[in-house]
Amino acid sequence: MPKPRVFVTRAILPKGFDLLKDHLDVDLWPGELPPPRDELLRRVAGIDGLLCLLTDPIDAALMDAAGPQLKVISNMAVGYDNIDVKEATRRGIPVGNTPGILTDATADFAFALLLAAARRVVEADRFTRAGKWQTWGPATLLGADLTGATLGIIGFGRIGRALAKRAGGFDMRILYHDPSIPPQPDSSARAVDLETLLREADFISVHTPLNPQTYHLVDAHAFSLMKPSAVLVNTARGGVVDPLALYDALHQKRIAAAALDVTEPEPIPLDSPLLTLENLVIAPHIASASLHTREKMSVMAAENLLAGVTGQRLPNCVNPQVYA
Ligand code: GLV
Repeated sequence: MPKPRVFVTRAILPKGFDLLKDHLDVDLWPGELPPPRDELLRRVAGIDGLLCLLTDPIDAALMDAAGPQLKVISNMAVGYDNIDVKEATRRGIPVGNTPGILTDATADFAFALLLAAARRVVEADRFTRAGKWQTWGPATLLGADLTGATLGIIGFGRIGRALAKRAGGFDMRILYHDPSIPPQPDSSARAVDLETLLREADFISVHTPLNPQTYHLVDAHAFSLMKPSAVLVNTARGGVVDPLALYDALHQKRIAAAALDVTEPEPIPLDSPLLTLENLVIAPHIASASLHTREKMSVMAAENLLAGVTGQRLPNCVNPQVYA
């Protein structure tokens, strides 16, 4: 029996990749950058399974190019807005993701960004390296206190709740907005409508998936409701925040600062006006990038792929309707 054929769109960590080698006929894209679209369409022809990353747009044209034998799409990410899941479901193709295992790493990084923006860590580093540190100054690089401040969490799923746990250790008051879950009775966080959250929070952190309902949820109107001292953190998806409105809000000091791990588009173009701002901290979409987390993500993506090509239920499937 020939081994199932799969295409893996980037080198994943060996812990995951090693699970595939013996059982599958693996075609691995060797580049550091994602396969260009034409290459992706060419390489998927005739495959039984696809292991892809959030940088690969997986749509109907790609599924056509793969062919009707395609049995699984395994995304090495918890988010799956890069995949047309509705189309995959229509074709009966299960789509896998990697939930749960990156919760702590992502919440850690969101909190790191929050602290970095609040206490101007990156600006202080630039200041020091530029030779501007001439003395201890009573008002040099003043930042915001976390203790006693209000944290507003937009999206109270696993990562939002993990952030709340961390913020509890800093004695922050926590508000959250998430219409998709019922209020959490045993939580020290308070469910509020979005407007209340935007008006009352000193720090606002975004943890929603990107979908038509959340696209540019944080827009010019949202910024107009925030406190002038507000700090915005986004480790979810760039598209949840309108980048032009963010630029205006930061440039005009309508809010104090922002810290982004995700942008729209990615990577952020080097001529983006956002990059000229001192009150912006930015990272290249690395919130889940701790060694153990990325190892676990590689393993989970490999396990989803293996299950899919052998006709078993994916351990983590975003469209279980395909099994109905
Ligand atoms: C990262 O952004 C992920 O969705 O896993």
